[in-house]
Amino acid sequence: MDPTSLLLATFLLSVGGLFAFIWSLRKGLFDLEAAGARTIFAPGEVGQPEEPSSDAAQRQALWVGAASSRVAPAATAAARADLEAELAARHEADRSSALPALLMLSCAVVWLVVASAAGLLGSLKLHMPDLLTGQAWLSFGRLRTLHLNAVAYGWAPMGLLGLTLWMLPRLLRTPLLGGRFAMIGALVWNAGLVAGLGSIAVGINAGLEWLEIPWQVGLLFALGGMMIGLPLAFMLQKRRVHHLYVSVWYIGAALFWFPVLYVVAKIPGVHFGVEQATMNWWFGHNVLGLFYTPLSLASVYYFLPKVIGRPVRSYNLSLLGFWTLAFFYGQVGAHHLIGGPIPPWLITLSIVQSVMMIIPVTAFSVNQHLTLKGNFGALRHSATLRFIVFGAIMYTLASVQGSFEALRSLNAVTHFTHFTVAHAHLGMYGFVSMVIFGGIYFALPRIVDAPWPRPALISLHFWLVVAGFSTYLITLSIGGVLQGLALLDPARPFMESVTVTLPWLQGRSLGGALMTLGHLVFAFHFALMVLRPAALAQTDRMVSQAAA
Ligand code: HEM
Ligand code: HEM
Repeated sequence: MDPTSLLLATFLLSVGGLFAFIWSLRKGLFDLEAAGARTIFAPGEVGQPEEPSSDAAQRQALWVGAASSRVAPAATAAARADLEAELAARHEADRSSALPALLMLSCAVVWLVVASAAGLLGSLKLHMPDLLTGQAWLSFGRLRTLHLNAVAYGWAPMGLLGLTLWMLPRLLRTPLLGGRFAMIGALVWNAGLVAGLGSIAVGINAGLEWLEIPWQVGLLFALGGMMIGLPLAFMLQKRRVHHLYVSVWYIGAALFWFPVLYVVAKIPGVHFGVEQATMNWWFGHNVLGLFYTPLSLASVYYFLPKVIGRPVRSYNLSLLGFWTLAFFYGQVGAHHLIGGPIPPWLITLSIVQSVMMIIPVTAFSVNQHLTLKGNFGALRHSATLRFIVFGAIMYTLASVQGSFEALRSLNAVTHFTHFTVAHAHLGMYGFVSMVIFGGIYFALPRIVDAPWPRPALISLHFWLVVAGFSTYLITLSIGGVLQGLALLDPARPFMESVTVTLPWLQGRSLGGALMTLGHLVFAFHFALMVLRPAALAQTDRMVSQAAA
């Protein structure tokens, strides 16, 4: 088939699918009423914020702020009893997921610290090349790869999957089923990561970015990922909700997409040459767009409405966001190969779909904005909300930036420069990591049944990482553009494109150091929470229940 027709056919299929979806929304095939949005609230609970990381005074302020959405209190004794029963069932649901979620979140925190150390040392080496040169595993190439793999297969998936397992019983109103499979899956996954990082450290590397871990070890991720997905399959059959909330759609899709992506990308002896590069970036961007992104969006769709006690403003818009993400994301990968020796139609297709991504991103952003509108004061009283809203805004920025970065004219400047790394952190840090932090601040008090011991550390963490991340993003973006312009100018010697980045690389190290400090504060607080003496936990539990 001639490539242009193929390009057109795929594009028309996406647009056709989009219109079919809009039509089905209009016909009420999905859920014309916003009842679906209230699935995460017990009957009569709308207007009642839930924020376990806040103190009593902050909860009171959140309660006042939510007054406009509050429904009349349950009038009859039967309605009150229903609400009580729902809340008791939720408590049971929380207990059922506590151990698997705690296991995964603890692994996430360990990988966060490991990854930050590798990232910071790698960053320092780019402007202090004589630093620690004696050991091969401490060379930039290996440290960078260790950093990337520790965030990509350690911190981000363990954090997101831990939150997912914790949310599922609440979303489906049934205790967690198959938690043991999930825990074994998590152990298999982490064993794969330890072996994978070990092989990278000693120089065994599959040579493809994001897929460096050798396939013999990497397949443990696919196996572990499938096992972690089993509880969803079991619980869907036993669920006590009629409607599947939008977070469940995102979670279900991501849990299905990950093993498919990873297995296809890792099958040995199938992909060669240019096709291998295409497959590499088909995986590379899909793991971002069809795994981390949907899991993070699922968390935003759960935690944001829960903290302010108000259902998402337009439930249909949230479904539109889901389907358009599914339609368009799968074909954007080739925008990583602009200028490479692959068929131009494939690149053009990826650029068109990159720009089309503006639809799901706008649907998400407008919806979150409208949901929070009129209650922005809640940000002052909820740490969870601060992290989650920051993450949601960074999602919009990363995606809009990405759509422009995919245009040939702009990519010619930014490709091969530090700008791409800045964009990578805007997405993976500003969006994904901040959402994970927010989710953990909400979920952990429910998991260990006690409030955070030192609330001041939460603020310290927030401001350290916001200051560090902003410094990182701004300095590296400027440095990247200057580097790109120098590279494109034939009148300037190549070395100028290197020296021009120096102050900006130093700025990135400063930002990265602040972020790393923030992560140490977070990890210390997390450990304090989890390892506190049993007697103290008991007292706290009573305080936490009284405050709730
Ligand atoms: C509409 C949404 C987005 C579009 C169109 C987009 C587009 C792009 C483009 C054009 C590049 C640079 C390719 C190059 O020149 O090498 C890139 C890199 C990257 N993007 Fe995005 N982006 C989007 C959203 C995101 C999000 C939400 C995340 C994080 C979850 C993200 C993470 C990354 C990462 C990590 C890289 C660097 C990959 C690497 O080279 O290792 N992007 N993106
Ligand atoms: C959880 C936090 C973090 C996440 C999710 C994250 C994510 C990433 C990703 C996806 C890449 C690949 C970028 C690309 O290929 O374009 C990367 C590279 C990198 N990151 Fe991070 N990062 C984090 C924290 C940090 C910190 C604290 C530093 C400290 C300065 C840092 C420094 C670096 C460096 C130096 C690179 C290599 C850039 C290059 O090859 O030029 N990262 N990181």
